[in-house]
This record gives sequence, C-alpha cells and structure tokens, in this order.
Amino acid sequence: MSFDYTRYLAAKTSMDDRALNRQVLSELSRLIPAEAPRVLEVGAGLGTMVARLLDWGVIDAGEYTLLDVDLQLLNNSRQWLSDWTATRGLCCEPLPDGLRVGDLRVRFEHAELGSFLDAGHGQPADVLIANAVLDLMDVPAVLPGLLRLLVPGGVYWFTSNYDGESIFEPEHPRDGQIMQAYHRDMDERVRYGRPAGDSRTGRHLFHQLRAAGAPPLSAGSSDWVVHSAPDGEYPHDEAYFLGSILRTVADALEDRVEPVELAEWVAERERQLASGELVYIAHQLDLVGRSPA
Ligand SMILES: C[S@@+](CC[C@H](N)C(=O)[O-])C[C@H]1O[C@@H](n2cnc3c(N)ncnc32)[C@H](O)[C@@H]1O
Repeated sequence: MSFDYTRYLAAKTSMDDRALNRQVLSELSRLIPAEAPRVLEVGAGLGTMVARLLDWGVIDAGEYTLLDVDLQLLNNSRQWLSDWTATRGLCCEPLPDGLRVGDLRVRFEHAELGSFLDAGHGQPADVLIANAVLDLMDVPAVLPGLLRLLVPGGVYWFTSNYDGESIFEPEHPRDGQIMQAYHRDMDERVRYGRPAGDSRTGRHLFHQLRAAGAPPLSAGSSDWVVHSAPDGEYPHDEAYFLGSILRTVADALEDRVEPVELAEWVAERERQLASGELVYIAHQLDLVGRSPA
C-alpha cells in the first residue's frame, strides 16, 4: 500500500475526536481568553484541529496559525479546510497567507520548528497547541523556546503525546520484540538534523513542564482505541489509518528486525485488518497549563 500522508491525517480525525481527553479540554476552554485569542498550532498538518475546535465551540474568532515543515500538507490544508467549511455551511474566504473562516483568520506558516525557534520569529501567542507532535521532537531542547512563544501566563494544550504502549490484538508471539525495536527506533530517531522522538513523551512531559516553570493544571489519557464494528467494518477511514500504522512500523524496523520475522508479523496483522479482527490501542496523554507568568 502506498502511503498518502494527507489521507492518513484526515483518517486520524475520527480517532482523535473520540480520544482527546474531555476533562483536559474543559480546562482548556476555561483558560482560553474569551476575546479573539491568537492561537499557534505547531506541527499542525492538515489543520484538522482548528476545524475540530470550531466545531466544538472552543474558538470562534481571532487568529489561528498552522505551522508545519511540510509545505505540501499546508497546501492540502487550504483545500481540506475549504471543503470542511462547505460541509458546515460556514463562510470561507481565501487570504494571501491563509483563509478567513467566519470571524477566524487562519494563517499558514511554513517552517521547521527548531529553526523557527532558533530564528526567534513569531508573534506572541495566547494559546499554543501541539497534537501528536511533541513525540517527534527533542522536548527538553525545544520546550523553553516553545513556551517563550506564549505571552506570560499564556495557555498550552499539548495533546496525543505517545506514551510507551502500542497494543495489537489478538496477541502475536513477536509483539514484544517488535514493540521493543519500534520504541528504540523512536528513541534514536533523528530528523532535520536534530533528535526527534521519545517513546515515553507523555509521562516525561510532567517533569519537563514543571522544570520549565509551567506545570500542568490538568492531564489525562487520550488513548487511541480502534476496532471494527460487529459487521467487521472499521468506522470512517480507520482501516486506512491502521494500514498506515502497520506500514510505519514495518518501515521503521526494516534494519532492526530480521526481514523474514518482520514480514511474517506484518502479513499476519494485515490479514487481521482485512478480516476486521485487528484491534489497535495506543496509549497517549494530554496536558494543559500556563506558561510562566
Ligand atoms: C503526526 S503529524 C500530526 C499532525 C496534526 N497535528 C494532527 O494531529 O493531525 C506530525 C506533524 O508534525 C509536522 N512536523 C514534524 N516535525 C516537525 C518540525 N520539526 N517542525 C515543524 N513541523 C514538524 C509534520 O510535518 C506533521 O504534519
């Protein structure tokens, strides 16, 4: 299966909708400034979070910047968001650097986060969001710079932070070996010339945020739980999502697991996916708090 990252991120939306921790979300809603906040989302991908926050009534006005290193994704985001506004009957107007959706100005910022922070760009933000992103970063290195993007006392909402557990059911004798190698690959990953991952990002964020003077005010789990319906069909486009996860594991482990053993594990998981037997659970954590005042 070839891997279409835009489709993968769109397919992830229904899982995130179910998984995002509602108690942490309520705390975000309580903390977010009432009047036209300036929101920065890093690693924003296709922009599914801004759509969700509009849908859920968490924001309705102000400015929302989508920062991502992948220009193709940002270009696709323009189309995806326009299509999404049409399904909601929202007024959407193109702008040179983004879109106006009702009273919200959505801006696209093409940048690699580490370079963006090093360059000291960036207007102060009232709210900083990162969904399924910090586990791709060297958090101790980027966290102080990230928090400095916020106004003093500004709000961060760091969600879907991977936390050391991927479960595939039914059990397979090679699961332990495969997951150990997968986590080692995350821990040793380098992207854009920088360390880029920690398989236990979620739990480590508690003390990293405290050390940065921004301890979380609320935290909770946001595990992805994916299973088929009684008829064996996966909801929405979640079968595509699961296939992409299996491909991601296979690609990451190419040089870490015996090819025959890896191929046998992947083939069995793909067979279970095709028959609707495969269950996938990924443990993740959400945290919300304020930057140092
Ligand atoms: C797993 S995706 C999550 C996307 C989006 N937040 C979501 O949940 O749908 C990670 C995103 O982070 C972006 N990304 C990864 N490393 C980055 C970096 N160093 N600087 C900026 N963006 C980065 C990728 O291009 C990708 O869009």
